[in-house]
Parts: sequence; C-alpha cells; structure tokens
Amino acid sequence: MAAELRALRADITRLQVDAIVNAANATLLGGGGVDGAIHRAAGPALLRECRLLGGCQTGEAKLTQGHGLPARYILHTVGPVWRGGDQGEDALLASCYARCLALADAQACSSIAFPSISTGIYGYPIEAAARVAVASVRSALPTCQAVREVIFCCFSDRDLAVYQSLLGENARG
Ligand code: AR6
Repeated sequence: MAAELRALRADITRLQVDAIVNAANATLLGGGGVDGAIHRAAGPALLRECRLLGGCQTGEAKLTQGHGLPARYILHTVGPVWRGGDQGEDALLASCYARCLALADAQACSSIAFPSISTGIYGYPIEAAARVAVASVRSALPTCQAVREVIFCCFSDRDLAVYQSLLGENARG
C-alpha cells in the first residue's frame, strides 16, 4: 500500500501520530522555535533522556520517548544552518528526513509528522527546503515497511501553501 503525504497547519506538539520530529541543535539539550515548544509540552523527563544521548550531528537523528506528548516517539534531528546553499545544505537537509523516516520505520511507526526543518532560526528558504523535504521523503518511503502516513506540519499559512503546491495532485506518494 502506498504511503500518504499531506501538509497541514498545526502545532506539532498536539498531533496524535506515532512519531513527531524535532528540529533540534547539536547539543539536543533544547532551544527556541519548535524545539522549545516540544520540550515544554513533553516535560522535564525529555531533557533527562536527551542528556544521555551525547548530542547529534547535522543530518543525523536520534530517538526518544514522547513523554508528555500524544506522540509515542520524538525523532530529534539537526538541520543545516543556511549558508547560501553551496555548503552542502540540500544533502544535509535531505539526510535529516531520510534518517528520521528510517528510525520511525524501525520502531514500526505508521505515522510521522515533520516540522519544516531549518526554515526558522537556521534560515533555510522555505521554497528550497520544502522541495528537498518532499523529494527526500518520496525517495525514502519505498524502503519503509511500516510508515503509511507522512505529515508536513506547517506553522504558517505561507509555509502550508508552499507544501500544498509541491504535493499538488500527487499528494499520494
Ligand atoms: N509546531 C510546528 N512548527 C513549529 C512550531 C510548532 N509548535 N514552532 C515553530 N515551528 P525552528 P530550525 C516552525 O526555528 O530553523 C532551535 O533553537 C517554525 O515556524 O524551530 O531548524 C533549535 O534548538 C519553522 O517553520 O528550527 C536549534 O538551535 C520550523 O518550525 C534551531 O532552533 C523550524 O523552525 C533550529 O532551527
């Protein structure tokens, strides 16, 4: 069965999915943006678990429990800081999506929600980032056994419009 890709506007901390993704930094010890929102909503036990992980490199991902969130798991990934586009940003961002999908699939997650990684504090232009996100998910999905639904969770109407136009009539990947 093909997996469904869709975009919606929501606070990712509220989504009832098997796994949500956190746009973290290399320390995995919290920050602003969606990272701050996830730590606030999950509670202090999340930080305690993150302290045991030893950080995370850009383009990689690590898994924790969801703690106080409706989601069972959190995949913490570190997107690239935008430096103009010729510093390997696309490949690193694509790797974030692929690594998170692989980890979610290994935990038998059927649904996963991504925020728009790197497009806030890290400055990645939304159009370029969304193109990479959708392409990376589409190319990784055939290797997944369990994942059936991938949600691109947007925080603004503008971001949502960008994702919706990319998903277009081909919203089923
Ligand atoms: N639900 C969904 N999306 C959200 C939420 C939310 N509750 N809150 C913000 N966003 P950012 P980055 C969107 O800055 O660019 C942190 O300090 C936001 O509007 O959170 O990868 C980390 O610790 C934007 O579209 O992440 C790192 O230091 C998207 O999430 C750094 O920021 C990503 O914006 C990572 O920067």
